[in-house]
Amino acid sequence: MTGGHARARVLREGPFCLEDRPPPCGVVIFGASGDLAHRKLLPALFALHRRGLLPPAFFVLGCARSPLGDDGFRERVRATLRARFPDRPAGAVRAFADRHAYLSGDYDDPAFYRRLGERLAGLEAEAGTGGNRLFYLAVPPGVAPRIIEGLGAAGLAREEGRGGAWARVVAEKPFGRDLASALALDERLHRVLSERQIYRIDHYLGKETVQNILMFRFANAIFEPVWNRRYVDHVQITVAEAAGVEHRAGYYEGAGCLRDMFQNHMLQMLSLVAMEPPASFGADRVRDEKVKLLRAVRPFPPEELGRWLVRGQYGPGGTGDDRVAGYREEPGVAPDSRVETFVAARLLVDNWRWKGVPFYLRSGKRLARRVSEIAITFKEVPHSMFEGLVPAEPAPNVLVLNVQPEEGVALSIQTKKPGPKSCLTILSMDFSYRDVFGVEMPEAYERLLLDCMLGDQTLFLRHDDMEVAWSLLTPVLEAWAEERPGVGEVYPYEPGSWGPAAADGLPGADGRGWR
Ligand code: NDP
Ligand code: BG6
Repeated sequence: MTGGHARARVLREGPFCLEDRPPPCGVVIFGASGDLAHRKLLPALFALHRRGLLPPAFFVLGCARSPLGDDGFRERVRATLRARFPDRPAGAVRAFADRHAYLSGDYDDPAFYRRLGERLAGLEAEAGTGGNRLFYLAVPPGVAPRIIEGLGAAGLAREEGRGGAWARVVAEKPFGRDLASALALDERLHRVLSERQIYRIDHYLGKETVQNILMFRFANAIFEPVWNRRYVDHVQITVAEAAGVEHRAGYYEGAGCLRDMFQNHMLQMLSLVAMEPPASFGADRVRDEKVKLLRAVRPFPPEELGRWLVRGQYGPGGTGDDRVAGYREEPGVAPDSRVETFVAARLLVDNWRWKGVPFYLRSGKRLARRVSEIAITFKEVPHSMFEGLVPAEPAPNVLVLNVQPEEGVALSIQTKKPGPKSCLTILSMDFSYRDVFGVEMPEAYERLLLDCMLGDQTLFLRHDDMEVAWSLLTPVLEAWAEERPGVGEVYPYEPGSWGPAAADGLPGADGRGWR
């Protein structure tokens, strides 16, 4: 195709587009000095505030070990927000930062939780939040259980006897490192909290385009009839990053791509794109269907893993000023590390809708470009009456749900090229969120923090969601850990490529290729 102009426009907006404002509440961020807090959480809260979506009675209490006082923390909050929102008036940033307080201490010390209780009581009385509390665990994975126990022992996350005030806890990924550790972590959470108080976050579910999968599939009558094995040839889900591991080697060396991306984001997108229609948009109805779908994914046969999964690790690339460090050269990475930075998988879903339709999933760091998309390739026409006119390559219709960075939807179709000759042309009908709605896409954390405050768990993982994902992947991790020849080979790949050539063999074995 050689350029062109496509147009989509809003015909009519739904009547219920106004977002709800949550009730008064205080947000307690553990790990408030850290990367997640400053890169994502504080900017997301400020963005909600700008959109009028925070309650007037609201405060943030940052907690960490770093010895900062209220003033020191507020200064950091201001610096974070000024850098992120340079166009905002200093007064607005200052006023918002003034709603932040800080408490430093040792998470293992019961005295810390006594002080936390006192500080919370004071802030709640001052702000008038009525005791509603959202605790956000933005700390390294091993630290979170200690905080939960401390909160439990001090009764700070209790709901009973507090006049109807709620207490919720947001648990960050990684949620365990295999099935056994995830179950153990869950058990510790449940000693203190009920399931409806636990918000296991997967930020991909907060992305507008990921949420749109459900609207697209189930609010339009024309897609569901073809969304199955009769019409769909295969599905590809790609989450590619151009960046490397950056400063997160400490975490990544103990994780790798399968735990970091597949156990959560990739399997969540798979479940949304392949699940059955839920009876309603209620949290448990949606999560029931996601879990049902994941339970239908065929387990990977450990003895022939190489036919189903390929893992890779980026090596060095380029020369001179353009040289890119290989994963093993990154600070904090072992020089002989076998941790994968890329995984490609072929999955089958054993149910009536999808029997025999392969799902190809791939994700990796230092790939050719940053792109996340779900591509549904439909079957070719059963008989072509245009022999000789069709383009050299077969051109089935492909529906692409673009998750990022160009959020939108594209459908490739074949059409007649204008002119006296009967020529077929493949073109793409594109819809771009940015063009149509003319707004900046909200950050995933905005939506997710708002939902926590509103008590809506639809976009959060339920215990069985997390459990079934680990059940599928833990045998793979165990087989890889054995390092048997032919199982879990770590193929090097060039930075800026689409991963190791071996990954081509997954769709290749079925006579297909990556997009
Ligand atoms: P950081 O490494 O920045 O740690 C956050 C804070 O935790 C630090 O500022 C530090 O504060 C405190 N901390 C570090 N080590 C310890 C320890 N041993 N005991 C007690 N406190 C400690 O982590 P991130 O902010 O990057 O991540 C937080 C959580 O969010 C992790 O679970 C991570 O996996 C998850 N996550 C992060 C993402 C990101 O983009 N950063 C993306 C998705 C998930 P202090 O020393 O002041 O106490
Ligand atoms: C995080 C992973 O969950 O998602 C990171 O830990 C990854 O390794 C990130 O870079 C990708 O998120 P996004 O929103 O930038 O696609």
